[in-house]
Amino acid sequence: AHITFESKDIAPFVADHELDEMQPLVTMADQTLRNGTGAGADYTDWIDWPETYDKAEFDRIKKAAQKIKSESKALVVIGIGGSYLGAKMAIDFLHPMFSNELSDEERDGVKIYYAGNSTSASYLNDLIRVLGDQDFSVNVISKSGTTTEPSMAFRVFKQLLEKKYGEEGAKKRIYATTDANVGALHGEAALKNYETFTIPDGIGGRFSVLTAVGLLPIAASGADIDALMQGAADAKNEYTDSDLKKNDAYKYAAIRRILYDKGYTTELLINWEPSMQYLSEWWKQLMGESEGKNQKGIYPSSANYSTDLHSLGQYIQEGRRDLFETVVKLDNPLSNLDLPIEAENNDGLAYLEGKTIDEVNTKAFQGVVMAHVDGGVPNLAVHLPKQDAYTLGYMIYFFEMAVGISGYLFGINPFNQPGVEAYKTAMFALLGKPGYEEQSKVYENRLKK
Ligand code: PA5
Repeated sequence: AHITFESKDIAPFVADHELDEMQPLVTMADQTLRNGTGAGADYTDWIDWPETYDKAEFDRIKKAAQKIKSESKALVVIGIGGSYLGAKMAIDFLHPMFSNELSDEERDGVKIYYAGNSTSASYLNDLIRVLGDQDFSVNVISKSGTTTEPSMAFRVFKQLLEKKYGEEGAKKRIYATTDANVGALHGEAALKNYETFTIPDGIGGRFSVLTAVGLLPIAASGADIDALMQGAADAKNEYTDSDLKKNDAYKYAAIRRILYDKGYTTELLINWEPSMQYLSEWWKQLMGESEGKNQKGIYPSSANYSTDLHSLGQYIQEGRRDLFETVVKLDNPLSNLDLPIEAENNDGLAYLEGKTIDEVNTKAFQGVVMAHVDGGVPNLAVHLPKQDAYTLGYMIYFFEMAVGISGYLFGINPFNQPGVEAYKTAMFALLGKPGYEEQSKVYENRLKK
């Protein structure tokens, strides 16, 4: 079984003929993407990657993961944006909640901590404290090899490792995932002889979870990366037809586009499992960085249910009608629980006795879809039959393919991210980075106003 895309609840908002009318545009977008004739075509190696990936490196990743597990209790994964969101999504999804709190025997792999994904000093201090005297290794991940947040965090944890294990010992616990040829991290890794893994040129950060970027941390967490790649490979073979009736990834992209044209300009990715919050964070980067250009694109947002029904629920039900929802529904979570039976009915829950908590979860999902559709919120759903690596790999490819097509439907380059640079220029100027002298004056003056 693999994932299914459900669009029946879209009926009040999108007529069948509207989808049919999208077909010629989708066919063109499909050709542009597959023939490599569109903007950003140099960054589409993710399309064939589930089959063409470097098998020798894949084996090396598994060996490195084994080594990490044999000599460390924890792995600090240093990266930001596309260099960590995919790993965190997968690791949260594929293991029980609170895995870091479990005993070594109960946990599948090493404890995983993340660093270098903010400029917060307390976060780093707090993580150093939690690591305490545990044995740990570091996987520093940066495609450019020059990103400030991970670079700073790497200095901190590198020095911690050197203090603990000496310079030579530290080197053996540092794994660098970066560009094959350029960047400061590439240079340092070569100089210090760290074990390195490559981020392929033709795959951008937000499409890189199935490369060493995601695979090494995911393997070190004890998850099955073979199954992850197999799921993506099967999805690759599933989503090949340009016919909207035969390709659900394209159908999802086309429906989103129709909704956008009708004024539904914000999409909320919804989950019903706390372990799937970072699935939304990964998806937000994938969608937002790909589509948000030239003053257009669907704004990708998210909500966690049922939690946020008690905070955002009011707005979603009755606020401004520019939202639509895509629910990623996990149909069979890793574990379930019977509602406890009580002799008395003081809490009024007797009517739920005999049901499992997950049955309540699913009924809540079904009820919310109906209420939101009645309230004017178009609803789509992606059903995940299982909480496993195969299913996740399948879903990753579904969303990647959908956004590739969607970008060309929007007439933008889905594979660049020029806007990510603007804040960096201002920040570097204010920090006095060499090369930014001119901008420094301008930004310093603006601060004084
Ligand atoms: O998608 C992107 O390009 C960004 O979000 C990057 O992933 C992020 O800025 C990290 O970049 P790097 O891997 O070069 O450190």
